Formats: sequence, structure tokens, C-alpha cells
Amino acid sequence: MLKIAVCVSGGGTNLQAIIDSIKSGRLENVEIVRVISNNPNAYALERARNEGIDAVCVSPKSFSTRDEFNSALLDSLNEAKPDLVVLAGFLVVIPKNVIEAYRGRIINIHPSLIPSFCGTGYYGLKVHEKALERGARVSGATVHFVDEGTDTGPIILQKPVMIRQDDTPEVLQRRIMEQAEWKILPMAIDLIANNKVTVKDHHVIIEGYDPETLV
Ligand code: GRF
Repeated sequence: MLKIAVCVSGGGTNLQAIIDSIKSGRLENVEIVRVISNNPNAYALERARNEGIDAVCVSPKSFSTRDEFNSALLDSLNEAKPDLVVLAGFLVVIPKNVIEAYRGRIINIHPSLIPSFCGTGYYGLKVHEKALERGARVSGATVHFVDEGTDTGPIILQKPVMIRQDDTPEVLQRRIMEQAEWKILPMAIDLIANNKVTVKDHHVIIEGYDPETLV
């Protein structure tokens, strides 16, 4: 059984996609042991509580220094003892202590095809605004391992989504969630749960990888 802790900051639709995948049996051998939010008002916490999943808030606002917050975040993870940490719309720069403690065991979903429209400052709607501003014809989503950089870790899965000329950032965001994010995040967790993912020289190798399943 792969125990996962899911870190969230907002609505939690990616968390819901993981929950629904577990409930439907598409995701086997996976258990969500804790949901952690930096935002006490995140609807994602309610989604977790509705399922009886342990849901906690660790907010930077509750600590006088960033170091104290970083330690509290690590303590909250360690308490839950996850095998894998899943960042699902977690708007916190992951501190060094957490990356060191969970190296190679933290994954993130980013709403673009890395290396496009990613890095510092590229989060939430901003990603889609920039893609439209640039006149891109395709975007999508990426699941990657997390390292010390922002969106720089080895790429696990990507799924493209075509951009329409009348797209707004909100419409594009929603379609990328529906057509890409909610599919590849549970898929990546499933591959890890079944030991099909290895990393060599900053490249992910997936046993039996078939790109056709992703277009
Ligand atoms: C998603 O678009 C995710 O890719 C990004 O933040 C958003 C979170 O959405 N990192 P939700 O909270 O899962 O609905």
C-alpha cells in the first residue's frame, strides 16, 4: 500500500480526482493518510473531511519565522509517515528540510507543458494568461518530481491540450484540469504505487510507457 500525503492550497479538484480514482478502484494500493493545507479556508480541506481523511492546516501565518513554519510542515508530514508527498495546487515554496527528508518522493502537478510557462511566478491563472498572451496553440499539464528548483524536477507524465482562439484564462484552466490534470496525476501515482517509475540522470523511465495512452 502506497501511503500518500496531499498538500493543497485551494479548491482541491486534483485532490478530488485522486479521491475519486481510489473510490472507483482505478487507483489500487493507494491510501491518502493526510491532507495538509497552508490555507485554513481551502475548500480542499472540506473535500478531505467529507471523506473522513485526516486534514490539517499548517499556515505560515501561525508562526513568527519561516523556519518555524518549515519545521512544522515537516513535522506534520512525518507524523503521517507518507511514502509519497503529492503537491496538488500547493502554493508554498517547498523548504529545503522537506526536500531533503523526502528526496525523490515528492511530485507536483503543474498546469503547462514544462519547460513552457513554468518557474518562479508561474502558478494558477498566471500560467494560462501567459500562454494566451504568447499566442501558444497548445498547452497542457505536467507531473514532475520536486527538487530544489521551481518546476525543474524530472518529468514523469505530460498531456497536451489544444488552445482555442476564443479561450479565456479561466476557460483554458478548466479544460486543462478536466482533460489533463485530473487524468495524469492519478496515473502518475498509480505508476509509482506499482513501482514502474525509476529516475536515471534526471530522466524518468517508465516501465511499459506508451505515449499513445496520453494523447
Ligand atoms: C491546478 O491547476 C494545479 O495544476 C496548479 O494549481 C491548480 C490547483 O487546482 N498547481 P485545485 O486546487 O486542484 O483545484
